[in-house]
Amino acid sequence: MSINFSEETGEVLTTTASLPEDHAEGSLRPRTLTEYIGQEKAKGNLEIFINAAKLRNEPLDHVLLHGPPGLGKTTLAAVIANEMGVNMRITSGPAIEKPGDLVAMLTNLNEGDILFVDEIHRLNRAYEEILYPAMEDYAIDIILGKGPSANSIHLDLPRFTLIGATTRSGQLTAPLRDRFGVALRLELYTPEELQKIVLRSAGILDVRIEPDGAYEIASRSRGTPRIANRMLRRVRDFAQVQSDGIITRAVADKALSRLEVDKLGLDSLDRKMLRSIIEFYGGGPVGLETLAATINEEAVTLEDMYEPYLLQQGFLTRTPRGRCVTRKAYEHLGVAYMGQQQMDSF
Ligand code: ADE
Repeated sequence: MSINFSEETGEVLTTTASLPEDHAEGSLRPRTLTEYIGQEKAKGNLEIFINAAKLRNEPLDHVLLHGPPGLGKTTLAAVIANEMGVNMRITSGPAIEKPGDLVAMLTNLNEGDILFVDEIHRLNRAYEEILYPAMEDYAIDIILGKGPSANSIHLDLPRFTLIGATTRSGQLTAPLRDRFGVALRLELYTPEELQKIVLRSAGILDVRIEPDGAYEIASRSRGTPRIANRMLRRVRDFAQVQSDGIITRAVADKALSRLEVDKLGLDSLDRKMLRSIIEFYGGGPVGLETLAATINEEAVTLEDMYEPYLLQQGFLTRTPRGRCVTRKAYEHLGVAYMGQQQMDSF
Protein backbone atom coordinates (compact mmCIF):
# COMPACT_ATOMS: atom_id res chain seq x y z
CA MET A 1 0.00 0.00 0.00
CA SER A 2 1.54 3.30 -0.90
CA ILE A 3 1.13 6.08 1.55
CA ASN A 4 1.05 9.48 0.11
CA PHE A 5 0.90 11.90 2.96
CA SER A 6 2.14 15.41 3.03
CA GLU A 7 4.26 16.44 6.01
CA GLU A 8 2.77 19.92 5.96
CA THR A 9 -0.79 18.85 6.43
CA GLY A 10 -0.04 16.88 9.56
CA GLU A 11 -1.41 13.65 8.12
CA VAL A 12 1.84 11.91 8.96
CA LEU A 13 0.90 12.44 12.57
CA THR A 14 -2.50 10.84 12.22
CA THR A 15 -1.86 8.00 9.81
CA THR A 16 -2.53 4.57 11.27
CA ALA A 17 0.24 3.14 9.06
CA SER A 18 3.44 2.19 10.82
CA LEU A 19 6.15 4.82 10.25
CA PRO A 20 9.92 4.51 10.79
CA GLU A 21 9.68 6.78 13.85
CA ASP A 22 7.29 4.30 15.46
CA HIS A 23 10.15 1.87 15.99
CA ALA A 24 10.75 3.81 19.18
CA GLU A 25 7.41 2.25 20.12
CA GLY A 26 9.18 -0.99 21.01
CA SER A 27 10.01 0.16 24.53
CA LEU A 28 6.39 1.27 25.01
CA ARG A 29 4.93 -2.10 24.16
CA PRO A 30 3.27 -3.97 26.99
CA ARG A 31 4.72 -7.42 27.62
CA THR A 32 1.92 -9.07 29.59
CA LEU A 33 -1.87 -9.20 29.39
CA THR A 34 -2.04 -7.26 32.65
CA GLU A 35 0.06 -4.44 31.17
CA TYR A 36 -1.96 -4.44 27.95
CA ILE A 37 -4.63 -1.75 28.27
CA GLY A 38 -8.05 -2.05 26.59
CA GLN A 39 -9.46 -4.73 24.24
CA GLU A 40 -11.06 -6.25 27.33
CA LYS A 41 -13.20 -8.74 25.41
CA ALA A 42 -10.32 -10.13 23.36
CA LYS A 43 -8.04 -10.14 26.41
CA GLY A 44 -10.58 -11.94 28.61
CA ASN A 45 -11.04 -14.70 26.05
CA LEU A 46 -7.33 -15.00 25.39
CA GLU A 47 -6.57 -15.36 29.07
CA ILE A 48 -8.85 -18.39 29.25
CA PHE A 49 -7.45 -20.00 26.09
CA ILE A 50 -3.86 -19.41 27.22
CA ASN A 51 -4.48 -20.88 30.68
CA ALA A 52 -6.34 -23.87 29.24
CA ALA A 53 -3.54 -24.59 26.73
CA LYS A 54 -0.95 -24.35 29.48
CA LEU A 55 -2.94 -26.70 31.75
CA ARG A 56 -3.13 -29.26 28.97
CA ASN A 57 0.49 -28.67 28.05
CA GLU A 58 -0.53 -28.02 24.47
CA PRO A 59 0.23 -25.17 22.08
CA LEU A 60 -2.42 -22.50 21.81
CA ASP A 61 -4.93 -22.98 19.01
CA HIS A 62 -4.30 -20.87 15.89
CA VAL A 63 -5.42 -17.27 16.38
CA LEU A 64 -6.69 -14.73 13.84
CA LEU A 65 -6.47 -11.09 14.93
CA HIS A 66 -8.43 -8.67 12.82
CA GLY A 67 -9.25 -4.99 12.97
CA PRO A 68 -8.04 -1.59 11.76
CA PRO A 69 -4.29 -0.81 11.64
CA GLY A 70 -2.42 0.57 14.64
CA LEU A 71 -4.47 -1.16 17.35
CA GLY A 72 -1.67 -3.45 18.54
CA LYS A 73 -2.10 -6.75 16.70
CA THR A 74 1.66 -7.40 16.62
CA THR A 75 1.94 -6.25 20.22
CA LEU A 76 -0.84 -8.61 21.29
CA ALA A 77 0.81 -11.51 19.44
CA ALA A 78 4.07 -10.81 21.30
CA VAL A 79 2.13 -10.69 24.57
CA ILE A 80 0.60 -14.09 23.78
CA ALA A 81 4.07 -15.54 23.07
CA ASN A 82 5.37 -14.09 26.32
CA GLU A 83 2.40 -15.42 28.34
CA MET A 84 2.81 -18.87 26.74
CA GLY A 85 6.56 -18.76 27.38
CA VAL A 86 7.46 -19.47 23.75
CA ASN A 87 9.38 -17.78 20.94
CA MET A 88 7.70 -15.87 18.17
CA ARG A 89 8.88 -15.68 14.55
CA ILE A 90 7.52 -12.81 12.51
CA THR A 91 6.77 -12.63 8.82
CA SER A 92 4.07 -11.12 6.62
CA GLY A 93 1.90 -12.16 3.69
CA PRO A 94 3.72 -10.00 1.10
CA ALA A 95 7.17 -11.03 2.45
CA ILE A 96 6.50 -14.66 1.51
CA GLU A 97 7.57 -14.49 -2.13
CA LYS A 98 7.92 -18.18 -2.87
CA PRO A 99 6.68 -21.42 -1.32
CA GLY A 100 10.19 -22.14 -0.03
CA ASP A 101 10.03 -19.02 2.18
CA LEU A 102 7.01 -20.41 3.99
CA VAL A 103 8.41 -23.95 4.20
CA ALA A 104 11.65 -22.57 5.69
CA MET A 105 9.74 -20.58 8.32
CA LEU A 106 7.66 -23.62 9.27
CA THR A 107 10.51 -26.10 9.43
CA ASN A 108 12.61 -23.77 11.58
CA LEU A 109 10.01 -23.57 14.34
CA ASN A 110 10.50 -25.24 17.70
CA GLU A 111 7.82 -27.08 19.66
CA GLY A 112 5.17 -24.62 20.89
CA ASP A 113 6.56 -21.62 18.94
CA ILE A 114 4.35 -18.95 17.46
CA LEU A 115 4.53 -18.03 13.78
CA PHE A 116 3.13 -14.53 13.34
CA VAL A 117 1.98 -13.70 9.81
CA ASP A 118 1.08 -10.04 9.48
CA GLU A 119 -1.22 -8.95 6.61
CA ILE A 120 -2.11 -12.58 6.09
CA HIS A 121 -4.78 -11.58 3.55
CA ARG A 122 -1.93 -10.68 1.19
CA LEU A 123 -0.43 -14.18 1.26
CA ASN A 124 -0.34 -15.69 -2.23
CA ARG A 125 -3.41 -17.93 -2.54
CA ALA A 126 -1.36 -20.72 -4.06
CA TYR A 127 0.83 -20.90 -0.95
CA GLU A 128 -2.12 -21.04 1.42
CA GLU A 129 -2.39 -24.72 0.63
CA ILE A 130 0.91 -25.31 2.38
CA LEU A 131 -0.66 -23.88 5.51
CA TYR A 132 -3.72 -26.16 5.55
CA PRO A 133 -1.99 -29.43 6.59
CA ALA A 134 0.56 -27.44 8.60
CA MET A 135 -2.22 -25.93 10.71
CA GLU A 136 -4.36 -29.04 10.91
CA ASP A 137 -1.90 -31.91 11.22
CA TYR A 138 1.44 -30.18 11.91
CA ALA A 139 2.84 -31.58 8.67
CA ILE A 140 3.67 -30.47 5.16
CA ASP A 141 3.91 -32.32 1.87
CA ILE A 142 6.62 -31.05 -0.41
CA ILE A 143 6.45 -31.91 -4.09
CA LEU A 144 9.87 -32.40 -5.67
CA GLY A 145 10.22 -32.34 -9.44
CA LYS A 146 7.56 -32.08 -12.09
CA GLY A 147 5.35 -34.37 -14.19
CA PRO A 148 5.40 -38.17 -13.89
CA SER A 149 8.72 -38.21 -12.07
CA ALA A 150 7.47 -35.84 -9.34
CA ASN A 151 7.94 -37.08 -5.82
CA SER A 152 6.29 -35.98 -2.67
CA ILE A 153 7.91 -36.00 0.75
CA HIS A 154 6.02 -35.73 3.97
CA LEU A 155 7.60 -33.64 6.74
CA ASP A 156 6.36 -33.55 10.30
CA LEU A 157 6.44 -30.16 11.96
CA PRO A 158 6.64 -29.28 15.64
CA ARG A 159 3.30 -28.39 17.19
CA PHE A 160 3.09 -24.62 16.74
CA THR A 161 0.59 -21.77 16.82
CA LEU A 162 -0.10 -19.61 13.80
CA ILE A 163 -1.19 -16.09 14.64
CA GLY A 164 -2.50 -14.29 11.57
CA ALA A 165 -3.18 -10.56 11.58
CA THR A 166 -5.31 -8.77 9.05
CA THR A 167 -7.10 -5.51 8.50
CA ARG A 168 -9.44 -7.30 6.08
CA SER A 169 -10.69 -10.64 7.31
CA GLY A 170 -13.26 -10.60 4.48
CA GLN A 171 -10.43 -11.10 2.02
CA LEU A 172 -9.27 -14.37 3.59
CA THR A 173 -10.41 -17.50 1.80
CA ALA A 174 -12.95 -19.54 3.74
CA PRO A 175 -10.65 -22.61 4.05
CA LEU A 176 -7.93 -20.51 5.66
CA ARG A 177 -10.31 -18.61 7.93
CA ASP A 178 -11.91 -21.85 9.08
CA ARG A 179 -8.59 -23.24 10.25
CA PHE A 180 -8.22 -20.61 12.96
CA GLY A 181 -9.71 -21.91 16.20
CA VAL A 182 -9.79 -18.44 17.70
CA ALA A 183 -10.75 -15.22 15.88
CA LEU A 184 -10.50 -11.98 17.81
CA ARG A 185 -11.60 -8.60 16.58
CA LEU A 186 -9.69 -5.60 17.92
CA GLU A 187 -11.82 -2.48 18.32
CA LEU A 188 -10.88 1.20 18.30
CA TYR A 189 -9.90 2.27 21.84
CA THR A 190 -11.96 4.63 23.98
CA PRO A 191 -10.42 7.99 24.98
CA GLU A 192 -10.24 6.72 28.58
CA GLU A 193 -8.22 3.66 27.52
CA LEU A 194 -5.96 5.81 25.36
CA GLN A 195 -5.46 8.20 28.25
CA LYS A 196 -4.13 5.29 30.33
CA ILE A 197 -1.85 4.26 27.45
CA VAL A 198 -0.52 7.83 27.09
CA LEU A 199 0.11 8.11 30.84
CA ARG A 200 1.88 4.74 30.82
CA SER A 201 4.02 5.71 27.80
CA ALA A 202 4.84 9.10 29.36
CA GLY A 203 6.04 7.27 32.47
CA ILE A 204 8.34 5.06 30.39
CA LEU A 205 9.64 8.01 28.34
CA ASP A 206 10.06 10.15 31.45
CA VAL A 207 7.75 12.85 30.13
CA ARG A 208 5.90 15.01 32.64
CA ILE A 209 2.22 15.11 31.82
CA GLU A 210 -1.01 16.01 33.58
CA PRO A 211 -4.02 13.66 33.35
CA ASP A 212 -5.94 16.35 31.40
CA GLY A 213 -3.07 16.69 28.97
CA ALA A 214 -3.11 12.92 28.42
CA TYR A 215 -6.87 13.02 27.88
CA GLU A 216 -6.52 15.78 25.29
CA ILE A 217 -4.04 13.66 23.30
CA ALA A 218 -6.18 10.55 23.80
CA SER A 219 -9.37 12.13 22.54
CA ARG A 220 -7.63 13.37 19.38
CA SER A 221 -5.82 10.16 18.42
CA ARG A 222 -8.70 8.47 16.57
CA GLY A 223 -8.96 5.43 18.79
CA THR A 224 -5.45 4.27 17.91
CA PRO A 225 -2.53 3.74 20.34
CA ARG A 226 0.04 4.10 17.57
CA ILE A 227 -1.25 7.63 16.89
CA ALA A 228 -1.54 8.46 20.60
CA ASN A 229 2.09 7.51 21.22
CA ARG A 230 3.23 9.46 18.17
CA MET A 231 1.28 12.53 19.30
CA LEU A 232 2.78 12.23 22.76
CA ARG A 233 6.28 12.58 21.28
CA ARG A 234 5.30 15.59 19.15
CA VAL A 235 3.44 17.34 21.96
CA ARG A 236 6.45 16.75 24.24
CA ASP A 237 8.54 18.77 21.74
CA PHE A 238 6.12 21.69 22.02
CA ALA A 239 6.03 21.41 25.81
CA GLN A 240 9.82 21.52 26.04
CA VAL A 241 10.39 24.35 23.57
CA GLN A 242 7.41 26.58 24.21
CA SER A 243 6.53 25.81 27.81
CA ASP A 244 8.05 24.37 30.98
CA GLY A 245 8.19 20.79 29.71
CA ILE A 246 4.96 19.70 31.38
CA ILE A 247 2.19 18.53 29.05
CA THR A 248 -0.98 20.23 30.24
CA ARG A 249 -4.31 20.25 28.46
CA ALA A 250 -3.55 23.73 27.08
CA VAL A 251 -0.12 22.69 25.75
CA ALA A 252 -1.57 19.58 24.09
CA ASP A 253 -4.41 21.58 22.58
CA LYS A 254 -2.08 24.23 21.19
CA ALA A 255 0.36 21.68 19.78
CA LEU A 256 -2.29 19.51 18.14
CA SER A 257 -4.13 22.51 16.70
CA ARG A 258 -0.83 23.69 15.19
CA LEU A 259 -0.48 20.22 13.67
CA GLU A 260 -3.98 20.55 12.17
CA VAL A 261 -5.55 17.79 14.19
CA ASP A 262 -8.97 19.00 15.23
CA LYS A 263 -10.80 18.47 18.52
CA LEU A 264 -12.13 15.09 17.45
CA GLY A 265 -8.87 13.90 15.92
CA LEU A 266 -9.79 14.55 12.29
CA ASP A 267 -6.91 15.61 10.08
CA SER A 268 -6.98 17.52 6.81
CA LEU A 269 -7.57 14.40 4.73
CA ASP A 270 -10.57 13.37 6.84
CA ARG A 271 -12.04 16.81 6.36
CA LYS A 272 -11.23 16.81 2.66
CA MET A 273 -12.99 13.47 2.28
CA LEU A 274 -16.13 14.64 4.08
CA ARG A 275 -16.15 18.00 2.29
CA SER A 276 -15.78 16.37 -1.13
CA ILE A 277 -18.79 14.14 -0.50
CA ILE A 278 -20.78 17.23 0.45
CA GLU A 279 -19.55 19.55 -2.30
CA PHE A 280 -19.40 17.17 -5.23
CA TYR A 281 -21.93 14.50 -4.40
CA GLY A 282 -24.62 16.32 -2.41
CA GLY A 283 -23.69 14.42 0.75
CA GLY A 284 -23.64 11.03 -0.99
CA PRO A 285 -24.04 8.26 -1.75
CA VAL A 286 -20.79 8.06 -3.66
CA GLY A 287 -18.78 4.93 -4.45
CA LEU A 288 -15.46 4.54 -2.70
CA GLU A 289 -13.43 4.37 -5.92
CA THR A 290 -15.08 7.54 -7.27
CA LEU A 291 -14.44 9.35 -4.01
CA ALA A 292 -10.82 8.18 -3.91
CA ALA A 293 -10.26 9.45 -7.48
CA THR A 294 -11.86 12.79 -6.61
CA ILE A 295 -9.44 13.45 -3.77
CA ASN A 296 -6.49 11.76 -5.45
CA GLU A 297 -6.01 9.02 -2.84
CA GLU A 298 -6.02 5.27 -2.99
CA ALA A 299 -9.30 3.55 -2.19
CA VAL A 300 -7.57 1.08 0.18
CA THR A 301 -6.01 3.94 2.12
CA LEU A 302 -9.41 5.53 2.61
CA GLU A 303 -11.05 2.24 3.48
CA ASP A 304 -8.43 0.89 5.89
CA MET A 305 -7.08 4.03 7.49
CA TYR A 306 -9.71 6.72 7.32
CA GLU A 307 -13.12 5.15 7.28
CA PRO A 308 -13.03 3.11 10.50
CA TYR A 309 -12.77 6.22 12.66
CA LEU A 310 -15.19 8.30 10.58
CA LEU A 311 -17.74 5.47 10.75
CA GLN A 312 -17.21 4.95 14.47
CA GLN A 313 -17.61 8.67 15.16
CA GLY A 314 -20.80 8.77 13.09
CA PHE A 315 -19.53 11.16 10.41
CA LEU A 316 -19.95 8.67 7.63
CA THR A 317 -22.29 5.82 6.79
CA ARG A 318 -21.88 2.98 4.34
CA THR A 319 -24.83 2.11 2.16
CA PRO A 320 -25.11 -0.41 -0.69
CA ARG A 321 -24.87 2.53 -3.11
CA GLY A 322 -21.85 4.13 -1.51
CA ARG A 323 -20.72 6.42 1.28
CA CYS A 324 -22.89 9.17 2.75
CA VAL A 325 -21.97 11.89 5.22
CA THR A 326 -24.20 12.46 8.22
CA ARG A 327 -25.70 15.59 9.69
CA LYS A 328 -22.98 15.42 12.37
CA ALA A 329 -20.33 15.85 9.64
CA TYR A 330 -22.05 18.96 8.29
CA GLU A 331 -22.19 20.39 11.78
CA HIS A 332 -18.58 19.53 12.54
CA LEU A 333 -17.41 21.18 9.31
CA GLY A 334 -19.68 24.16 9.82
CA VAL A 335 -21.55 23.55 6.57
CA ALA A 336 -25.28 24.25 6.49
CA TYR A 337 -27.21 20.98 6.47
CA MET A 338 -29.92 20.85 3.81
CA GLY A 339 -31.81 17.70 4.54
CA GLN A 340 -34.16 18.09 1.60
CA GLN A 341 -31.38 18.48 -0.91
CA GLN A 342 -29.92 15.27 0.45
CA MET A 343 -33.18 13.46 0.02
CA ASP A 344 -33.38 14.65 -3.63
CA SER A 345 -30.14 12.94 -4.45
CA PHE A 346 -31.50 9.51 -3.50
N1 ADE B 1 0.98 0.67 23.79
C1 ADE B 1 0.41 0.43 22.62
N2 ADE B 1 -0.72 -0.29 22.79
C2 ADE B 1 -0.87 -0.50 24.10
C3 ADE B 1 -1.85 -1.15 24.89
N3 ADE B 1 -2.92 -1.72 24.36
N4 ADE B 1 -1.66 -1.17 26.20
C4 ADE B 1 -0.58 -0.57 26.74
N5 ADE B 1 0.35 0.07 26.07
C5 ADE B 1 0.21 0.12 24.75
